[in-house]
Amino acid sequence: MEHVSTRIKSMLPSATLEMAQKSRELKQQGIDIISLSLGEPDFDTPDYIKKAGIKAIENNYSKYPPVPGYMELREAIAHKLKRDNNLDYKASQVVVSTGAKQSLANIFLSILDPGDEVIIFAPYWVTYFEQVKLAEGIPVVVQSDISTDFKINIEELEKAITSNTKLVIFSSPCNPSGTVFTKNDLMQIANVLSKHPEITIISDEIYELINFDGTHESIAQFPEVKEQTVIVNGVSKGFSMTGWRIGYIAAPQWLADACIKAQGQITSGTSTVSQMAALEAISNSPDEIRYMVEEFKERKELVVAGLNEIEGVICNNPQGAFYVFPDVSSYFGKSYEGKIIKNASELSLFILEHGKVSVVTGEAFGSSNTIRISYAASKESLIEAIKRINNSLALLK
Ligand SMILES: Cc1ncc(COP(=O)(O)O)c(C=O)c1O
Repeated sequence: MEHVSTRIKSMLPSATLEMAQKSRELKQQGIDIISLSLGEPDFDTPDYIKKAGIKAIENNYSKYPPVPGYMELREAIAHKLKRDNNLDYKASQVVVSTGAKQSLANIFLSILDPGDEVIIFAPYWVTYFEQVKLAEGIPVVVQSDISTDFKINIEELEKAITSNTKLVIFSSPCNPSGTVFTKNDLMQIANVLSKHPEITIISDEIYELINFDGTHESIAQFPEVKEQTVIVNGVSKGFSMTGWRIGYIAAPQWLADACIKAQGQITSGTSTVSQMAALEAISNSPDEIRYMVEEFKERKELVVAGLNEIEGVICNNPQGAFYVFPDVSSYFGKSYEGKIIKNASELSLFILEHGKVSVVTGEAFGSSNTIRISYAASKESLIEAIKRINNSLALLK
């Protein structure tokens, strides 16, 4: 007899993976779909990193790793944090996990008791929301929209804090909006949260390297909040290593220790071979992957310009990650062949059906007027996709 827990039953499946599945099915029926729904760079992992993985296999890196990751890798990460971010962390404060996704799960499981509240800046990566629920916490969303470039209002953050707030989480560069917080934005957040030292700040910096003006800022740079901040990062996005599954945290020692304890009972640590490849990625200068960032920047400019030419679409101009998050709400209420488009989810399905382009509804990220378009695809496909989106939207009257 089937018996699925309430915990799993109440969990939403990933909307991005669902959209990818839908477009895969259509492709299998021979329909030519352009997929702009997935959050993964379309580049191969660079050769110098792949070679380090091959060498690790040849050198028999095939036994259980230490639970928090190899010390060499933790030291390299601590060194990177000094080199790139001017932050001081000891290797003991670094924990390597099976993707940043597991790093996040470790943190939620380590900090939350049932009923604890987690403030999530919207638009947000939907995994935050679902993992908080899984850890029996309560997500509390602070909204923003395109009029402030998807940056929250600081007063609303202050208002959302209660005696039950344990965590605040945001990503910069942001998935889904691509918004990058400036030093000043982060300082304002730090000013508020430093008055609440019992709240831990999760700073998700997984898109750090995909930054078009080259100035990544971490909230951990402010001494008044450093001891209450955990940085989440990894190699998936910047080094095009999504399948290697390496993420990490740099945290106050008590939290690193709790995450190690959780991880010890959940995965025993992550792949040895991947760790050696990540060591190569992180030890080298980020200049090695600059070519990917340059390409993303050119694509972004192409996509933003193309979308802004479509009537009724207002596109943001993000400074990082590889997504745009246009406001498409002017199409809500319009119809085609008697069917009225009521919201962003219906519009995404309409674009898939009539434009043969897969995008993700903003509703999956807590934002109702938007769709997320990933530009991790060739320029030719992006040009064709914009044409198709334009043609399909033109059907709506
Ligand atoms: C904002 C954000 N954080 C974390 C992750 C997790 O990355 P990974 O588990 O591949 O390291 C992703 C991946 O989509 C992301 O978009």
